[in-house]
Amino acid sequence: MNPGTIFSSLLVLHLSLSSFCVIHGTQEQNNAQKILSAAQKDKNWLVSIRRQIHENPELRFQEHNTSALLRRELDRLGVSYSYPIAKTGIVAEIGSGSGPVVALRADMDALPMQELVDWEHKSKIDGKMHGCGHDAHTTMLLGAAKLLSERKEKLQGTVRLIFQPAEEGGRGAAKMIKEGALGEAEAIFGMHVDFETPTGSIASIAGPHLAAVSHFEAKIVGEGGHAAAPHLASDPTLAASFAILALQQLISRESDPLQSQVLSVTYVRGGTASDVIPDYVEFGGTLRSLTTEGLYQLMKRLKEVIEGQAAVHRCIAYFGVKSEEFPPIPAVFNDESLNSHVNRVAELLLGPENVKVGKKVMASEDFAFYQELIPGIMISIGIRNEELGSVHSPHSPYFFLDEGVLPVGAALHTALAEAYLNEHRNSVIQ
Ligand code: NI
Repeated sequence: MNPGTIFSSLLVLHLSLSSFCVIHGTQEQNNAQKILSAAQKDKNWLVSIRRQIHENPELRFQEHNTSALLRRELDRLGVSYSYPIAKTGIVAEIGSGSGPVVALRADMDALPMQELVDWEHKSKIDGKMHGCGHDAHTTMLLGAAKLLSERKEKLQGTVRLIFQPAEEGGRGAAKMIKEGALGEAEAIFGMHVDFETPTGSIASIAGPHLAAVSHFEAKIVGEGGHAAAPHLASDPTLAASFAILALQQLISRESDPLQSQVLSVTYVRGGTASDVIPDYVEFGGTLRSLTTEGLYQLMKRLKEVIEGQAAVHRCIAYFGVKSEEFPPIPAVFNDESLNSHVNRVAELLLGPENVKVGKKVMASEDFAFYQELIPGIMISIGIRNEELGSVHSPHSPYFFLDEGVLPVGAALHTALAEAYLNEHRNSVIQ
């Protein structure tokens, strides 16, 4: 074969490979667009489900009506599921029944707060509100259940859809895991609505995304006495004051400036009279760190500083992490290769201009518990629409969301899971 022939054969091979890639790329694009347009056709149904959940918010581990609504819809769609898991939780399964297995997760609970948005479908229950968008998360995952069940012949493995209770302070994720929610899942995707990202867009980031959080309480015990004779007492007010000031130096002097941390003392209680030195003073607050290890180091130092300052002032400190009421939550750390997967799939679905880089935020999410066991990613999905007024942060009584997010989220869940199974079908030993 002369060099010219070799060159032209290589050229033909190159051209046919690149046209294969173009065709393959176009097929993926067409597939993504099919999923999105099917989701858009379901919009009225999705909106009606979301409004039913929004009007009837239920707090952590009390999501009985929400769960019943979901089960009725899953029955209607012919999707099989396990229930109850963690009291009100549901795990639905769609696909071949064998590996690979990928999980999608939504949280179902509302917040103990009063909705101040006046609109037709506002919360009907005083003091309870879906102020964090979990009504949308749940609806989007139900929407994905419908789309995936319509496409189940195409699935090269199994999708587990996890409807979880009690994200807000209840560690619902940890309870779901304990009761087997993850099954054989090897990766997990979650979404949270984001008021800073426009509807129709998403934001995603690899590495640290949300903070590890814990709460603490301290009691400094001295010896009370007459305010006129402080030398005969051990003053816990002064000891607590020094301790609180000293704590501020833990972040400024001991933590890595590139690993964000926050320490806030949020209450101080002590004393009853202006002429009496009290026996004890109590205070407490919260710690946040973008790494779980950082949080545990901070907790250790917090205890040492408080006990040390108490001792200097001839007092005794009792320190506790409020693990019963507010158990520590690990940091949300997004897997790098899943982030690439999200970017690629979302670009096909929504266009590259609608896929943005996510932010690090010092809020927390119990999605982190799943990520302690398998690679996972929490995606921010846009709900911002100035005309509709969906511009308020979660946990605001004015929080409002653009329901245009519902088909987008349902389609994204579906496309992420389907593409994941396609890409990993060969990695499973059958
Ligand atoms: Ni939330």
